[in-house]
Amino acid sequence: MKDKLFTLEEKIAEARLGGGQQRIDAQHKKGKLTARERVHFLLDPGSFEEVGMLVQHRCRDFGMENQHFLGDGVITGYGTIDGRLVYVFSQDFTVFGGSLSEAHAEKICKIMDLAMRNGAPVIGLNDSGGARIQEGVASLGGYADIFYRNVMASGVVPQISAIMGPCAGGAVYSPAMTDFIIMVQDTSYMFVTGPNVVKTVTNEDVSSEDLGGASAHSTKSGVTHLTATNDIDCLQKVRQLVSYMPQNCEEKPALKAYDLAEEWREELRNIVPDNPNQPYDMREVIHGIVDEASFMEIQESFAENIVVGFARLAGRSIGVVANQPISLAGVLDVNSSRKGARFVRFCDSFNIPLLVLVDVPGFLPGTDQEWNGIIVNGAKLLYAFSEATVPRITVITRKAYGGAYDVMNSKHIGADFNFAWPGAEIAVMGAKGASEIIFRKEILEAEDPAAMLLQKEKEYQEAFAHPYRAAERGYIDEVIDPCLTRRKLIKAFASIENKVAHLPRKKHGNIPL
Ligand code: HXC
Repeated sequence: MKDKLFTLEEKIAEARLGGGQQRIDAQHKKGKLTARERVHFLLDPGSFEEVGMLVQHRCRDFGMENQHFLGDGVITGYGTIDGRLVYVFSQDFTVFGGSLSEAHAEKICKIMDLAMRNGAPVIGLNDSGGARIQEGVASLGGYADIFYRNVMASGVVPQISAIMGPCAGGAVYSPAMTDFIIMVQDTSYMFVTGPNVVKTVTNEDVSSEDLGGASAHSTKSGVTHLTATNDIDCLQKVRQLVSYMPQNCEEKPALKAYDLAEEWREELRNIVPDNPNQPYDMREVIHGIVDEASFMEIQESFAENIVVGFARLAGRSIGVVANQPISLAGVLDVNSSRKGARFVRFCDSFNIPLLVLVDVPGFLPGTDQEWNGIIVNGAKLLYAFSEATVPRITVITRKAYGGAYDVMNSKHIGADFNFAWPGAEIAVMGAKGASEIIFRKEILEAEDPAAMLLQKEKEYQEAFAHPYRAAERGYIDEVIDPCLTRRKLIKAFASIENKVAHLPRKKHGNIPL
């Protein structure tokens, strides 16, 4: 027995060494932690339990029969984050570049199956050169097994992907089907095909960083939801992200203890400028409403004309979707609609109530938008809100014009409460544009067309540049003093926390993808 224990200890030591000390040193030299160190910093101290430490690959081609590393390039298991169970896999770049073999895939699948059966999030720490080239179709099959589970788990348990090294091929498709992607600046890349293949096929010269670095994916493609400065920052962000979520779709997010106080926020009175064309930062409104330092913005640098993120309101986890007047006047376009829709659907999947802050001049006109499908992309946001059965509350801070009024969680598409600040303007369009269309004849025939336009604009403004027409019809439940917004929302969300809403019986809807 003693001898056998000795062998076990040797095997554990071997497994812990991954691809060897030299490769570990190389990993550190690049500013990266090892796969094991990452698991250590992700989870509560001492909570990790490893599964499948002694697994090996079964490849016999290209000399692989002589190259074995215990664990086969991925560390899998479970542990806790703030005391809550999570399942984890962490790819080890020191073993065949973290590439995915049949056995490596089986380990990840086992963890995903456990997570699904036991209703806990899956966190993937990705650092992989994709399918293990020596294994051919066995590794492709392994990827497909993971992809299939990603889809089955979607909407059942939260899935989070941290990209912590160069990830290529299949190593990016699995993250793409998870709920959130976090990339580490400078040390991580994501691409379906790397710069060499790009050069061969399209003759483009592009660096890995420009093609698929954190900056490209956080600003241009929108593939990544969060960017971290280094591995530790990345793992901390994962921990924070998980804190807003329930364990699975059957649960509500954890509620933090909170004692209701006066909740008066004077600063909210002074954020929206008197001049309707002057921008302001909607983040100030968000920070004025939610619990102190609780807002975590998602996709901060992509489609900046809409702000989305998680926050807490009196300890309750909420998702915030807000037009952003400092970027393109807060207009809805292709990317902001896609970004908003995806976020709304995540919150709805996992019972996270939605707060929607509206200051929107409409949809962005132009050939670029039309040819890129603003019709179907705008429809995604409309569809996502309409379908969401979580508690939903809207506050119109200033403009709510045109179709964008309907789309941004209006009463008509199922919002539970709709509030407006006194300066809100709810109309088909701005006064100038409206007057030019409906009073065109009068303006053209006037002695002084400019003066006539101004007069008509004023008339239109008096009729519509306020929230009271909408309030008369009950489309707005209450016009509220901005400084009371936080208090109103806390009480309103508490009143609908047990909301029951069912969609009509169907196999699934057909969101305009
Ligand atoms: C086997 C691999 C590997 C792979 C890397 N390695 N990728 N081994 N299969 N896919 C090995 C290397 O041979 C090397 O071994 C070690 O890992 C480290 O790799 P380096 O190239 O030295 O590291 P680096 O310079 O940092 O470059 C990392 C990389 C590059 C960008 C990931 O290795 C790369 O381009 N790899 C191939 C990417 C790829 O084309 N994957 C297949 C995608 S197809 P040694 O022993 O020399 O240190 C795919 C199909 C699924 O995934 C698609 C489903 C939709």
